[in-house]
Amino acid sequence: MKEKLETLLQEAVSELSLLDSEESLQGLRVKYLGKKGLLTALMKGLGALPPEERPIIGQMANVVKDRLEEKLEAALSRVRLARKEEKLRSERLDVTLPGRRRPMGSRHPITQVIDEITEIFAGLGFQVAEGPEIEQDYYNFEALNIPKDHPARDMQDTFFVNDSVVLRTHTSPVQIRTMLKQPPPVRVIAPGTVYRCDSDATHSPMFHQIEGLLVDKGVTFADLKGILTIFVSQYFGAGTGVRLRPSFFPFTEPSAEVDIACVMCKGKGCRICKNTGWLEILGSGMVDPEVFRHVSYDSEEYTGFAFGMGIERIAMLKYGISDMRLLFENDLRFLSQF
Ligand code: PHE
Repeated sequence: MKEKLETLLQEAVSELSLLDSEESLQGLRVKYLGKKGLLTALMKGLGALPPEERPIIGQMANVVKDRLEEKLEAALSRVRLARKEEKLRSERLDVTLPGRRRPMGSRHPITQVIDEITEIFAGLGFQVAEGPEIEQDYYNFEALNIPKDHPARDMQDTFFVNDSVVLRTHTSPVQIRTMLKQPPPVRVIAPGTVYRCDSDATHSPMFHQIEGLLVDKGVTFADLKGILTIFVSQYFGAGTGVRLRPSFFPFTEPSAEVDIACVMCKGKGCRICKNTGWLEILGSGMVDPEVFRHVSYDSEEYTGFAFGMGIERIAMLKYGISDMRLLFENDLRFLSQF
């Protein structure tokens, strides 16, 4: 019996030394010390011993039991410590590392220019109007006094969807749509995407314009000049020179192109302004009575002016960008400068 106890202890201890998890150690405890465990079974056999041996062997069995418990506890705390250390090692973090900056998006420069210009005209009482990019020939041309086969159609290289539908070549059709929707007075600004079959460093087949239209009783060319001068000084800075040059658009009469003093050389003459000292920023004019006829406005009672400017061009002038394609490539190294 004594030997049995000793071998049992030895076996248990050597088994134990091979175990390295809490679960397997608990399993060992059950195997030896559980209700149906090996040591428990041995102890149940004590009753069969001669009475004088019982206390001695009983005491031995208790010692074995205690030793085993002790070894188990020691092994358990060893395993737990190892697990904790492993956890600390794998979850280690360096609190002195600088934080990771999340890249933050921002509005595209084109959107920024549109928003800023819209803001200025909103301050002058203009509301925002919209129209479709896929437009009827009628709104894009006919109603703007550009009949079929008119040479003025050559001014804009049009993408045709079919005979009567085009990708709008300018935002001017929004003038027509707005006037058909409401009686005068009108005071709207219409930013949007437009399309022309043209592509190089300063032209893109898709670009943006902002249209302006103001119709009321007694509107004169002086109002056109006044509003545009206010716009130029607010957007390009007070004191920026403005000049109007006679021009032609089928839907305005008289018409003028508006130049500002070169933003680079302030009018002295440089590469950007081709030594003229001036930069063209928009087309404008008094609404042609023929346009009013198409929308049933009484041109005896009402007059108005309209203007349209290219956003990319404005953005290029404002930020000194020499190639328009940069605005469409969406290279983050470029965009993140705005
Ligand atoms: N729609 C003209 C263009 O795209 C610009 C313009 C608008 C001119 C309004 C006069 C009045 O070139």
